Amino acid sequence: MSVRRSVIAGTGGYLPERVVTNEELARRVDTSDEWIVARTGIRQRHVAAKDELTSDLALHAAEAALVAAGRRAGEIDGILLATTTPDLTFPASATRVQAELGMTRGFAFDLQAVCSGFIFALAQADALIRSGMSERLLVIGAETFSRILDWEDRTTCVLFGDGAGAVVLEAGEGAGTPADRGVLSARLHSDGRQAELLKTDGGPSSTGTVGKVRMLGREVFRHAVTNLATVMEETLADVGVSTDEIDWVIPHQANRRILDGTARKLGIDPGRVIVTVDRHANTSAASVPLALDVAVRDGRVAPGNLLLLEAMGGGFTWGACLVRM
Ligand code: ACO
Repeated sequence: MSVRRSVIAGTGGYLPERVVTNEELARRVDTSDEWIVARTGIRQRHVAAKDELTSDLALHAAEAALVAAGRRAGEIDGILLATTTPDLTFPASATRVQAELGMTRGFAFDLQAVCSGFIFALAQADALIRSGMSERLLVIGAETFSRILDWEDRTTCVLFGDGAGAVVLEAGEGAGTPADRGVLSARLHSDGRQAELLKTDGGPSSTGTVGKVRMLGREVFRHAVTNLATVMEETLADVGVSTDEIDWVIPHQANRRILDGTARKLGIDPGRVIVTVDRHANTSAASVPLALDVAVRDGRVAPGNLLLLEAMGGGFTWGACLVRM
């Protein structure tokens, strides 16, 4: 039986030039490199220049993904940009990326699921392609989280960074088995009852401001490992594969301890988990596609590999995608 699949044809990533080390942060707030590394695994993060917008980061990542896929912008049917930090309240930053790429057809829109944004966008793009509505899409996660951090708050400002990652997702054919290339399963969840644990304290309709990130870190941590392990198991059960068959886990890069805790809970060898949190920190919606791009470019992720992508973020939102490259 032939089934329509959506296949990752190329990946791209972009990090702003400026690197902020833990030592530099320790000069601004009451923290230390030792505390940050021990509690999070983070050693540094990239921070966008003043005139560098989320759409600029997204554009760089999208261009790199197009090159990797051997495609031109004119061959793209649409752009899904996952971001919590758009250039403006509207229009969607995706439309600026569309214009900058020189695209005059197709659609472009932003999608907001905070740190899970890329997983939600990938699931959405997969559905658009499998339904036959689209042939080829750009799926991007891009953030300038540095703009919504309270740089006086040591409990949040040490955790985040800026960046962008992108994939070109295109239609392919499979046999309807786990050996197929493409997105094999996608599972999404939200629980709005937990909104207070991780949010901004402002927004267009409430305060008329952007707001700053506020988080009860210990509570978020507690939910993260459980929710992520559960949703990962759901995708594996959908496809009928075991954890032993996963070549690489590409997790949202929030905290090294969450990565290790989740892998341990599922009995996955930590050596099979792609880790970039030490260099990128938490880049929210950008973290999964950035980590994927790093691992594709350094040769760890190879064609045919089975990948488990997962993320959790504010809302709460969480999800996972099982993908064969
Ligand atoms: N430097 C030094 N001390 C600090 C800092 C800091 N940057 N931040 C907090 N502390 C202090 C606290 O004030 C507290 O002091 P106290 O005991 O005197 O009150 C102490 O360190 C311990 O604080 P906890 O919050 O209990 O520390 P914890 O071990 O939970 O680590 C952390 C905090 C790193 C935020 C952790 O809870 C975490 O990673 N949570 C997950 C949150 C997350 O990653 N969110 C991102 C989005 S959601 C997601 O992606 C999953």
